[in-house]
Amino acid sequence: GSCLESVKIAIDAGYRHIDGAFVYYNEHEVGQAIREKIAEGRIKREDIFYCGKLWNTCHPPELVRPTLEKTLKILQLDYVDLYIIELPMAFKPGDAIYPKDENGKIIYHETDLCATWEAMEACKDAGLAKSIGVSNFNRRQLEMILNKPGLKYKPVSNQVECHPYFTQPKLLEFCRQHDIVIVGYSPLGTSRDETWVNVSSPPLLKDPVLNAIGKKYNKTAAQVALRFSIQRGVVVIPKSFNPQRIKENFQIFDFSLTEKEMKEIEALNKNVRYVELLM
Ligand code: A2P
Repeated sequence: GSCLESVKIAIDAGYRHIDGAFVYYNEHEVGQAIREKIAEGRIKREDIFYCGKLWNTCHPPELVRPTLEKTLKILQLDYVDLYIIELPMAFKPGDAIYPKDENGKIIYHETDLCATWEAMEACKDAGLAKSIGVSNFNRRQLEMILNKPGLKYKPVSNQVECHPYFTQPKLLEFCRQHDIVIVGYSPLGTSRDETWVNVSSPPLLKDPVLNAIGKKYNKTAAQVALRFSIQRGVVVIPKSFNPQRIKENFQIFDFSLTEKEMKEIEALNKNVRYVELLM
């Protein structure tokens, strides 16, 4: 229920881009929130930009369209605006999201990312996804797709971890050259949940530079971190369940950082990920 409420608050606050996934197990709530806001007359479907994700157990090409159709059924929407391959590695298909052997090791699955991509292209052609992209892809994996013989559509975006402590300068430049938008996840430095976050890296929002710059503009460190990303052309997808912070994270369009401040924040880069994706 908290997701339903949060999405409705976010739409009221002005958010239009919603980053979802089947594996977040809340697509039914996101879909309901969107439909309720459409029914209220606050938005039209075409105002919303919903991103869905193809999970690792669904990489075999014949599974791609049925998986997206399942997501659409859960959302009760006719199409997603963006459908992305969530991770470049495949797991054994089946009901288990993290299929494991008797020793607790993940069971991987051999698939061809290019074949998965062709199935993604077919979803776009069928009108089930307006655009298609990838996530957690490095340069080599992007090049595999970009250099695929007979490529019909290139990925429009690559969603990766990106924030002042992990600025991704090389990947950002490569993606810029190829017209691929970087969507930065964990733009606030994550929830620091030890089950999936490397908490040995210090909390981003406690950073003295971000806080000092924030003070100057009467903004919080979170707002400065988000502003920094959008100002360098990185899309941000901050997550919050808190109404106050949902609104706060949207108040970033009424100030801008100077070139000097951008450089100062860029210099905070530690090249350390919070989300190590050790599997
Ligand atoms: P909460 O949901 O209680 O607001 P990220 O977007 O980098 O994944 O970070 C998400 C985490 O940051 C969540 O734990 C969220 O907690 C917290 N958060 C979101 N917005 C803010 C904010 N403006 N100030 C401080 N913490 C925030």
